[in-house]
Amino acid sequence: MSSPSVPKSQRRVVLANRPAGEPSGQDFRVEEAPVPEPGPGQILVRAIYLSLDPYMRGRMRDVVSYAPVVQIGEVMPGGIVGEVVKSNHPAYKIGDIVEERLGWQEYGVSSGTARKIDPSVAPISTANGILGMPGLTAYFGLFEVGQPKPGDTVVVSAASGAVGQVVGQLAKLAGCRVVGIAGGPKKCAFVTEELGFDACVDYKAGGDLAAAIKAACPDGVDVYFDNVGGPVTDAVIANINFWARVAICGSISQYNSDTTELGPRTPGFFVGRRVTSRGFIVSDFLTRFPFAMARLGKWVRAGKLRYREDIVEGGIAKAPEAFIGLLKGENFGKLQVRVAPEPASLPRH
Ligand SMILES: NC(=O)c1ccc[n+]([C@@H]2O[C@H](COP(=O)([O-])OP(=O)(O)OC[C@H]3O[C@@H](n4cnc5c(N)ncnc54)[C@H](OP(=O)(O)O)[C@@H]3O)[C@@H](O)[C@H]2O)c1
Repeated sequence: MSSPSVPKSQRRVVLANRPAGEPSGQDFRVEEAPVPEPGPGQILVRAIYLSLDPYMRGRMRDVVSYAPVVQIGEVMPGGIVGEVVKSNHPAYKIGDIVEERLGWQEYGVSSGTARKIDPSVAPISTANGILGMPGLTAYFGLFEVGQPKPGDTVVVSAASGAVGQVVGQLAKLAGCRVVGIAGGPKKCAFVTEELGFDACVDYKAGGDLAAAIKAACPDGVDVYFDNVGGPVTDAVIANINFWARVAICGSISQYNSDTTELGPRTPGFFVGRRVTSRGFIVSDFLTRFPFAMARLGKWVRAGKLRYREDIVEGGIAKAPEAFIGLLKGENFGKLQVRVAPEPASLPRH
């Protein structure tokens, strides 16, 4: 079975150079390539939304980590939400909406691993955000690693971002007092006024950040969900409580740095105050994704979880510029590129 409207060639974005420090447009190349033909048991997917995420910066480095390195000339990795346009797999039909890691390209082939999306639950772009990898990261990082208890003070950095906005709202549902940290008054107003956090500290406002966090957290910090590392994290740890939990999710402030940052650091607080600190990767919780996704979906449908997305128009060629901006805090909400229009048949929300 196949759709008649599939072109012969497509555009894709490959890694052209390994950047030193901040990436630039020259580190990426937009090229034409044939649209692949799905083999037996495979499907061809037309990308509609490309997810842009901080982890992609790590893949551009020639350093072994928990995920494979992107080679020069290879398509940049990334998740997409798209439409099945050819199917040789009995579980997928043309027109199905799926989420899959097909990279920065307009069309890609999946071998039966794509997650099917129900467009009646929420806009399909949410499968890259609150109802996708970032939402699951927030869920497991907060509940499993952060272990919040009612009445705890929970602090989350990059609070207006894809992961942070979900963390704070989940912590509110768990009966905690929630303080965000974000860059600028607009992002802070969003997290308090629209997402319902109790307070937000603007780390770009200048002045003594540790003192500002202390003022926002008069009872200290019981759970810190760390998205950024660096000086913001140092300022939170200065306010950490006895027996606190630190969920280390990411260190975006360091991703463009080619050297490991040295002190002043804060291990003394961890010893004296018996703090538990644990890094995690969302895939550690893979077997429980369906359960968490069902809960997140229910809360989104009930209006208990809100979300903000930052969708860049202009097609796949816009991905490099948008990604470079993400590493500088230019995004406001879950960053995605609209690669192609949504099918007109999808429900409106
Ligand atoms: N462990 C996992 O499995 C996992 C999974 C997904 C994501 N993550 C991590 O979670 C973090 C957030 O990811 P996301 O997708 O939700 O991104 P995001 O928050 O939507 O976007 C990144 C945000 O980081 C902030 N930022 C950028 N540079 C910064 C700097 N130098 N210092 C402080 N903040 C800076 C900016 O917000 P401001 O303007 O507020 O600074 C920017 O908007 C990242 O560290 C990412 O690597 C981890």
